[in-house]
Amino acid sequence: MTDSIRFLMCPPDHYDVDYVINPWMEGNIHKSSFDRAREQWQSLYHLIKENAIVDLVTPAKGWPDMVFTANAGLVLDKAVVLSRFYHKERQGEEPYFKTWFESQGFTVHELPKDLPFEGAGDALFDREGRYLWAGYGFRSELDSHPLIAEWLDIEVLSLRLMDERFYHLDTCFCPLTGGYLMYYPPAFDSYSNRLIELRVPPEKRIIVEEPDAVNFACNTVNINQTVVMNKASDNLKARLQEAGFTVLETPLTEFLKAGGAAKCLTLRVTEPIIIDRHAVINIESRTVLMEGHLLDAGLINRALDLVVEGGGSFQVLNFNLGEQRQSTSKAEIKISAPSHEVMEEIISQLIDIGVVSLDDDQRDARLQPVEKDGVGPDDFYVSTIYPTEVRVNGQWLTVQNQRMDGAIAISETPNGLVAQCKILRDLKLGERVVVDVVGLRTIRKTESREPRNGPQEFSFMSAGVSSERRVELIVEQVAWELRQIRDRGGKVVVTAGPVVIHTGGAQHLSHLIREGYVQALLGGNAIAVHDMEQSIMGTSLGVDMKQGVAVKGGHRHHLKVINSVRRCGSIAAAVEQGVVKSGIMYECVKNNIPFSLAGSIRDDGPLPDTQMDLIKAQEHYAELLRGADMILMLSSMLHSIGVGNMTPSGVKMVCVDINPAVVTKLSDRGSVESIGVVTDVGLFLSLLVNQLDKLTSRYGVVQVG
Ligand code: ARG
Repeated sequence: MTDSIRFLMCPPDHYDVDYVINPWMEGNIHKSSFDRAREQWQSLYHLIKENAIVDLVTPAKGWPDMVFTANAGLVLDKAVVLSRFYHKERQGEEPYFKTWFESQGFTVHELPKDLPFEGAGDALFDREGRYLWAGYGFRSELDSHPLIAEWLDIEVLSLRLMDERFYHLDTCFCPLTGGYLMYYPPAFDSYSNRLIELRVPPEKRIIVEEPDAVNFACNTVNINQTVVMNKASDNLKARLQEAGFTVLETPLTEFLKAGGAAKCLTLRVTEPIIIDRHAVINIESRTVLMEGHLLDAGLINRALDLVVEGGGSFQVLNFNLGEQRQSTSKAEIKISAPSHEVMEEIISQLIDIGVVSLDDDQRDARLQPVEKDGVGPDDFYVSTIYPTEVRVNGQWLTVQNQRMDGAIAISETPNGLVAQCKILRDLKLGERVVVDVVGLRTIRKTESREPRNGPQEFSFMSAGVSSERRVELIVEQVAWELRQIRDRGGKVVVTAGPVVIHTGGAQHLSHLIREGYVQALLGGNAIAVHDMEQSIMGTSLGVDMKQGVAVKGGHRHHLKVINSVRRCGSIAAAVEQGVVKSGIMYECVKNNIPFSLAGSIRDDGPLPDTQMDLIKAQEHYAELLRGADMILMLSSMLHSIGVGNMTPSGVKMVCVDINPAVVTKLSDRGSVESIGVVTDVGLFLSLLVNQLDKLTSRYGVVQVG
C-alpha cells in the first residue's frame, strides 16, 4: 500500500440513472440494478484500497451522479478548483463537495458563475507533473482554462473533444506513470491530436481502439504501476503489460449506464507539486465587434458557429439589439482559442463575414517581405471577395484589385503606400505581404439584409438556389436588371459552356449580344467550336439542332469546323470571309464584343483564338471582367468558378446550371448578390429573351391580327 496516495470516493447509496445528460444514459433511465451497482462499487473500492488510501464523502439524496467524484473538482497540492457543473442536474453536488474540501483544509477556488468546468473529469495531470491536460467542447468551457492555469500555477494544454460519447476528457484520455499516455485519438480534433503528438513521443503513446474505448478502457485509475479499469481487450492488456503495468479489471457495467467507470468514480486528492513548474497559458483571447442585421440576417449565429466549429469559445460581452426592423444591432464578443494558430484561423473566417477585431484598431498589419518572385511568405493572409482595408503605419489602406484567394501586397510607390490583391505568381521581390490576421478588416454593407422589392430598387432574392417555380420570377428580375444595365451603359459579362449550344440556347445568346445586353464573352474552346459548328453545319457535337437526332458521321463535324477556321486564321477572319454566317461568335465579331477563350488539355484543334497559355488566359479574363456590373454564368463550372474568384463582392452573379451542385457551389459565396438557378440553360435563355422583348416592346401597341 502506498500511504502517500489518497482517493476520494462516494458510496452509491443514492446512485441511479435518473435523467439523460450524456449519450450513455439514453434508454437507461432506472435500468441500473441497485444491488449490482453496490457490489461493483465495493469491488472497485477494495481494489483501490489495496493500493492507496480511500476517503469517503457522504452521498446526498437526490444527487445520483455524486458517486462520480472525479467531477468534484481538480486538486493540486493543497488547492482545489471546485467544479461548476454544466447541467443543472448535477449543480446541486457542488456545495457537498465544497464542504468536504473545506473540511480537509483545501484552499477552494471557485469559477465565476456560468463558466462550467467539471473537475478532474476534464483535467488530467501528466503523471510527471509537468503540465495539465484540460478538455473542452462538451462540459467544460475553454475560458475556464486560463483561470485554472493561474490558480494552480501550471501549464495548461487544451484539448477539444469532438465525440459526444467521450464528453469528459477522462473517458478517452489517460496519462500514466512514466510519461505514457493511453488515449483514443478519434475523440479529439486534429489540432488537439497534433498537440498530443508534440508532447508525447510515439513510443509512449498507447492508442486505444474503439471497442476498448466504448468499454471505458481509458477511464482507468492509475496508481504507480497498477491500472484499474472496467475491461480491456487482450491486445490492450498485452500492450499495457509490455509498458510495465499490472492490469486489474473490475466490472463496472452498472455505472457505464450513466456514462462513467473506474476513474470517474474516484478523485485523486494527492497531486504533489513539482517544484519548477509555472503557469503557462496558451489560450489566446480577442474581442471582436459585429454590427449589422445580426439577428434578422442570422449573422450572429453564423459568427458564433464559426467560432465553436473552429475550436474556439466565446463570451458575448455586449449585445445591443436594434429596435426597428431597419435598425442594426451591435455585439461585442470575446473569443478564445487554445492557440494562436487556431485563433488566426477563426479570426480570418470572422473577417470574411465582416467582423471587426477590436484590438486591431490599434495594431498595424504584420508584413513580411517577398523573398522570391512568385512566392509568398508562409502564413500569408488569403484574400476574399469583400472590400478589405489593411492598417499600415497607423493608416488604413483600401486594398485594390480585390479578389478571392490572393495575397495582399504592400508596395511603395511615388504616390505613397499601395495595398493590392495579387495572385501568388505575381508577387515581386521587394514587396511586403500581409501575414497573420491583425490590422485587417473587411467592409460589409449593413443594409444588405433582405431584398427591398421596389420598382426602382432591384435586388436578388438573397443567395440561394431557386426551385423550378421560382425560375420565371428570377428571369423577370434578371431581365429587368439587364435592361437597366444596358440603358445606363453598364457592363454585363457572360461566361458560357458548350451546353448553351447543345440545349438550343445559341440563338438566344446571339440575340442578347446583338441587342447590346452583353459586353464581353468568356468561355473555352468548346463553346466557340460548337457554336460555329451549328452555324456552318447545323449540328452541335454532331446532333442535328433542328431534328434533335445524331447525324451520321456528325462527330467529325466539329473537327472540320476547327480546320476551316484555322485556315481563315481567326474567328474574326472566318466571319469576314463569310465562312461563319450566324451565331454567338458571329455576333461578337460583328458587334465588337471582346471574347476570351481559355483552352484546356482536352481541346481539339484548338481554334486559332483559343489561348492555351492559361496564365495569359487568366489575365485576359481578369481584364475583361474589370468593371462588370453583372456576370451571367451559363453552364460552365470551371470557367465560372475561375471568374467567381477574380470578382470582388458587389458584382451581381447569376449562375444557371442543370446540376444543383454546381449552382450551390457558385452561389455560395456568402454574398447576397449571387443567385443560382437550377434549370436547363437553353430554356432559361429563351425565357430571358422573351421577357426582354416584353420589356422593350412599348406598351399600348396592340397586335392586330
Ligand atoms: N452521469 C455523469 C455525467 O454525465 C457521469 C460522469 C462521469 N464522470 C467522469 N468523470 N467522466 O456527468
